Amino acid sequence: MSSIADFLNKNGKNWENSLIDFVKIPSISCQTEHMDDCLRAADWLQDYFRKIGFTPKLYPLSTGHPIVYAESPKIADAPTLLIYGHYDVQPVDPLNLWTECSPFEPVIKEGIMYGRGTSDDKGPLFSHIAAAEFWMLQGDLRPKLNVKFLLEGDEEGSNSATEIFVRENADLLACDYLALSDSTQFAPGFPSITSGLRGIAAYELILRGPIQDLHSGMFGGAITNPCNALVEILGKIHDENYRIAIPGFYDEITRLTQEDQEQLRILPFDENSFYDSVGVSCGLGEKDISVLEQISTRPTFDINGITGGYQGEGGKTIIPAWASAKFSFRLVPNQDPDELTVSLKRWLEEQLPPGITMELIIEGLSAGMLVDLSRPCMKAAAKSMEFGFGRSPVFVREGGSIPIVSTFSSALTPNVMMLAYTQKTDNAHGPNEHFSLSDFTRGIKSNVKLWQELAVL
Ligand code: BES
Ligand code: MN
Repeated sequence: MSSIADFLNKNGKNWENSLIDFVKIPSISCQTEHMDDCLRAADWLQDYFRKIGFTPKLYPLSTGHPIVYAESPKIADAPTLLIYGHYDVQPVDPLNLWTECSPFEPVIKEGIMYGRGTSDDKGPLFSHIAAAEFWMLQGDLRPKLNVKFLLEGDEEGSNSATEIFVRENADLLACDYLALSDSTQFAPGFPSITSGLRGIAAYELILRGPIQDLHSGMFGGAITNPCNALVEILGKIHDENYRIAIPGFYDEITRLTQEDQEQLRILPFDENSFYDSVGVSCGLGEKDISVLEQISTRPTFDINGITGGYQGEGGKTIIPAWASAKFSFRLVPNQDPDELTVSLKRWLEEQLPPGITMELIIEGLSAGMLVDLSRPCMKAAAKSMEFGFGRSPVFVREGGSIPIVSTFSSALTPNVMMLAYTQKTDNAHGPNEHFSLSDFTRGIKSNVKLWQELAVL
């Protein structure tokens, strides 16, 4: 059997072409018109698993898209590795900004594959399937492992069905190690192992006032305006130090240890170029907290969208009947999203002006998590990435959320290895999303090495 490097030289092109086929399927999980496409993506994965000698099975969920589960031929007394990924992708609008390709007609230009899902998460996910294919080709000589895949089609939306599935199927999913690639490298040339994720608590708040829109000349001054009420209340969530004013919000948060701070210090991060890269000169965050801490280890509040009243052409002098906002908090470890919901609701009710009623809809709740870096598998993971990338990885806490991961560490195993292969500049969720084929290749090599390491750990 050839080495993975030789194999990639000869067969790497086939994997690129397979990834292209996979990316062509528009599996946008949150849009009903793409329901069938999500199923097609799940079928595509099933077929691929069958082709490489894994046994796949689809598990429908009560809501959302099916889970693709697959396992390798059983080997007695070998450790089990579970691999997670998501085959769903984000919506593609605005289409006119896709200048490199049309979102579901992927192209490769100068070693970079463009297309929706190339980096989040079809490319990284497929790097693990490629490793599985290479591993199976080694027959009886392959490192002794039992490998399971759990691929979901609902990561990009808020769906608690996957979480329930994991809890209810802990036997099926039983494993010693868990690996996923759905986070980003700290910077080019800094292959990374993600050591923590933020959680998320997302809501919609609807405020209602009069039974219908009213003339603001005849009623203004006496009738409380729901749009005014909404911005006034939301405006109070941040205090003068830009901290979140919901009572108890910071109670359970621990400050960074010396070691945490040391880890942040060694990362190359320039605040000015960070701001430059998104076209602003500066920004507003919690007082006395560095930007790097702000985007990874501190909680946040963001309004994601706000609506109500008249938005059409020209003006319309009304007191609108209602107003609504969607907003979310990023949470750090130890913050309990359920407790936040209770205190948020109580706080909002206290702020309500006379003549306004409210409805608070929960869009999604998940807790933040931290990886215990002292576990032996973390060394194996670091060694594998060093092999794949030619440089030892840094350990970084990420500001993004992968809701299911905290469930994994509590219900399946604390040995969670988040091997980050994509770049922050790959435009995940945005136009011209892309994934560099060199990161793809390095990812495949890292995975191959990881399996060797775990088999003998
Ligand atoms: N892959 C991302 C999460 C991510 C990005 C983790 C960068 C670490 C670094 C994932 O697909 C995602 O976008 N998650 C959503 C979750 C939300 C919809 C519940 C997020 O973070 O907004
Ligand atoms: Mn993702």
